[in-house]
Formats: sequence, structure tokens, C-alpha cells
Amino acid sequence: MSIIDQKRKNEHVALAQKFYHKTQPNDFDRITLIHHSLPTVNLDQVSLQTSFAGLSFDAPFYINAMTGGSQRTKKINGDLSLIARETGLAMATGSVSSGLKNPDTVDSYQIVREHHPNGIIFANLGAEHSVENGKKAVDLLKADALQIHLNAPQELVMPEGSKQFSTWLDSIQKMVKEVGVPVIVKEVGFGMSQETIAALKSCGVTTIDVSGQGGTNFVEIENERRKLKEFHYLEDWGQSTVLSLLEASSYTTELDILASGGIQTPVQVVKSLVLGAKSCGVAGYFLHYYLKEGIEATIEEIETWKEVIKMIMTLTSSQSVADLPKASFVLDSYLVNWCQQRQLT
Ligand code: FNR
Repeated sequence: MSIIDQKRKNEHVALAQKFYHKTQPNDFDRITLIHHSLPTVNLDQVSLQTSFAGLSFDAPFYINAMTGGSQRTKKINGDLSLIARETGLAMATGSVSSGLKNPDTVDSYQIVREHHPNGIIFANLGAEHSVENGKKAVDLLKADALQIHLNAPQELVMPEGSKQFSTWLDSIQKMVKEVGVPVIVKEVGFGMSQETIAALKSCGVTTIDVSGQGGTNFVEIENERRKLKEFHYLEDWGQSTVLSLLEASSYTTELDILASGGIQTPVQVVKSLVLGAKSCGVAGYFLHYYLKEGIEATIEEIETWKEVIKMIMTLTSSQSVADLPKASFVLDSYLVNWCQQRQLT
């Protein structure tokens, strides 16, 4: 990988950290879970188990795709994978594209598998990649699944980004058919529409992470890397994670829908599961927590998230993650209006 590519990988981490902030208020605050005073399940009856992409997970959240491709990001991947191992979480690496271009950097990804030999690991690539590259990415990590990211706004604003998108759907279709592991198609923080989900479904995709707006913002990050910083006009582009989950609502029984984008609390994990997500990806919050507080504290934070999720499941009489969509909740008028105009059920 060129020095420029390595610099970009380091800059993404540094800028994600620089712009990290608690997104409050956000669209998760527009959903209220209703308290009922007579739970019908006990805390010790609650299971956090979930499944998607044909895989079974001990917790309904995971460390989402972030990094790899340089010495600095090797250290981060190494530490995040120790955190994943100690907490039993699944983890995705950042795009392996740079590792495929320059074999010298593959150790910055492979360290994840070394540290978490029995864990569930996702490799990650952009939608333009060939099946051959998909297979290489999977082999590199002995990955259990391959994430394919959709990031058109990021590419457009990224100084060195691609401007060619029209072949993405075709290459995703080929990847799903031929790569040999489950494929998860994900956004990178701009959210999805029901039209996007329908298009992905029509080409055989069965697992989709809507990754909405509300957390890490790659227009903001890439614009900061531009000399003139002239594309700030696009910083609001996209749908929030909550709006994206509402867009996905008619697909949650036939597809595995995942939530990510701005998830910063265990309450937001539960709200995503109530809206039909099978699990949640967390990137910016865990990166920020680890960079600020270190490995041990991040492990404790993740264990706290598990406990809080179990408590809310008890309070909503949900013995399993699959029970959560039956929990009662109220949407505010903005969300109801969105559903009406977009004709969502
Ligand atoms: C990302 N994200 C990302 N996604 C992806 O599919 N491939 C990638 O290489 C990267 N790289 C990356 C770097 C850094 C530093 C961050 C913080 C994030 C996007 C990520 O997986 C997620 O979709 C978004 O960040 C939204 O979630 P959060 O960060 O708001 O939890």
C-alpha cells in the first residue's frame, strides 16, 4: 500500500476521534419504550443470544468495521480484537482492500484472527471488488462472513475517492453467489432506504446493516482531509439509523437486518432490536472509549452493556432477542410523519 493509503487509514482514525461526540438528542430519543410494572420473565431467564447470516452470537452487538492497513492501525486492531475475545463479541476489520494491494500490511488485519482464533470475524471490502478479491479477503482472516460496504457519499467527497458506482449491484450479486461465505452488505453511516433494501434483496443479499446517520460522519471526515474543505454542504446527507430501521421494517422477517450508526448506549441497542434488528454494530463509540480509557475499561463497559440490555429485556418481558419486537413503544410525531409519507407499515 502506498504511503498515501497508510496516511489515509491513520487520518480516518484520528478524525473519527476528533469529531466524536455524544449525539444528543438523536432519533433514538424519538422512540419511548413503555414501562409495565409486572414483568413476566426473571432476569436469569433472559438470553442475549442472537443469529444472523447463518451464524450464532452470544451478544446482540459487535465491533463494526474500522481499520487496518498501517502500523498504527495494526495496534488498534490488535487491541480491539483482545477486547472482542475477552467479551466474546464478533468483530469486523476495516476494508481489506489496502491489504490486498500491498501484502506488507496484511499483518495489520491478520492480528485480529491471531488474537481471536475462535471468534466470529468479518472481513470487509468495497462493492467494486471482484469475487477473487472477496475470496482473498476471507482467506486472509479465515473470516466467517464478508462485509461489503456501500459508501458513495464518502467516495465523492474523499479527495482520492472513486466516482464510479453503476456496477456495484452487479458485483454484489456475483459476490453473494460465489464468495463461499455469508455476505453482509453495509452502509458506512448514511443509512438505507426501502428501495435500496429491495434492490439488494433482488440480487440475493439476505443480511443488511443499514448503518445510518447519527454517529461517525464520513463526509465530515473526508471533507476535513480536503485542502479547501469545500464540501461541508453535504454533511447532513443521509437517513438516521432509526429512520433506516423504519425503512427496513417490512423486511425484518425475510431478511436479517442489522443496525449501526451512532449507537452509543445499550438502550439504543435495545431500541434497534425492538425495531426488528437482529444485532447492532458499534464502531465510533468503542473506538473512542478504547482510545480514551484503554482495554480493561472497554471490556468492563461492554460487560455493563450486556447487563443493561438484559435488564431492559426483563423489564419488557422479553426472554430472547427474538421477543423484543413485541415490546410496546411509542414513536414521536416526526417518526410517524416519516412512516406516513414513505408509506411504511
Ligand atoms: C469506519 N467504518 C468503516 N466501514 C466499512 O465498512 N469499512 C471500513 O473500512 C470502515 N472504516 C472506518 C474507519 C473508522 C475510523 C470508523 C470510525 C468507521 C464505518 C463503520 O463501520 C460504521 O458503519 C460507521 O462508522 C457508523 O457507525 P458508528 O461509528 O457511528 O458506530
